[in-house]
Amino acid sequence: MKIIMLGAPGAGKGTQAEMISEKYHLPHISTGDIFRANIKNGTELGKEAKSYMDKGLLVPDELTVRILLDRVAEEDCKEGYILDGFPRNIPQAEVLDAELGKLGDKIDAAIDIEVPDENIIERMMGRRACTSCGATYHIVNVPPKKEGTCDKCGDALILRDDDREETVRNRLNVYHEQTQPLIEFYQKKGVLKTFDGTKDMMDVFKEITEILA
Ligand code: AP5
Ligand code: MG
Ligand code: ZN
Repeated sequence: MKIIMLGAPGAGKGTQAEMISEKYHLPHISTGDIFRANIKNGTELGKEAKSYMDKGLLVPDELTVRILLDRVAEEDCKEGYILDGFPRNIPQAEVLDAELGKLGDKIDAAIDIEVPDENIIERMMGRRACTSCGATYHIVNVPPKKEGTCDKCGDALILRDDDREETVRNRLNVYHEQTQPLIEFYQKKGVLKTFDGTKDMMDVFKEITEILA
């Protein structure tokens, strides 16, 4: 099963992808997490990606597409995967489509989580992320057991550099201009499933599992 997560920054793509990954034993592939791991390790890729991410802009397609295609070619992706944050514009979606087409394959479901812009800012300010394992928390909605520490791996939780209010606003603009057109793209392919992301996260998850079952 090959799944794409769509939705604005902070809509809950990562939160839901993580739960889907556990339930269906599929790898959760977040391009944002891959970039953040590279930033943390001080790689050239990380340095280049950071210059865009800190402004709330998309990392250029040449970089992003190569990384993603390398990742989905790995052994653990044979039975499928969940893409979180890719594709993020029409050219990325077309490359993915073409690559899958070569293998006689396709995307099974594009899960679109809808949350109005007004709710996003509050969510982002409260979000805390683990840079080691990618787990996501919220100081009010999903607090970790021990403040500032990841429940899963014990590493420190951080406020992401791109979660400052001004950067979040830029990310929302980029989302509306470049990523939202993917909703129609996948609707035309007949694989779009839309969910109300303002609901409780477990309710959203339950609705998603109903369509994936
Ligand atoms: P990326 O890491 O993908 O960030 P994003 O799309 O902006 O999305 P987020 O990770 O911020 O939000 P999310 O939807 O995963 O929400 P979450 O589950 O954490 O990308 C970062 C940057 O990398 C981009 O800006 C770009 O520069 C670059 N990049 C990445 N991919 C790229 C690509 N393909 N091409 C080019 N550039 C790329 O939830 C948010 C918060 O809300 C959490 O605190 C969570 O606990 C809470 N929450 C979740 N669900 C609920 C709920 N139902 N109710 C209440 N709270 C909830
Ligand atoms: Mg995320
Ligand atoms: Zn962790």
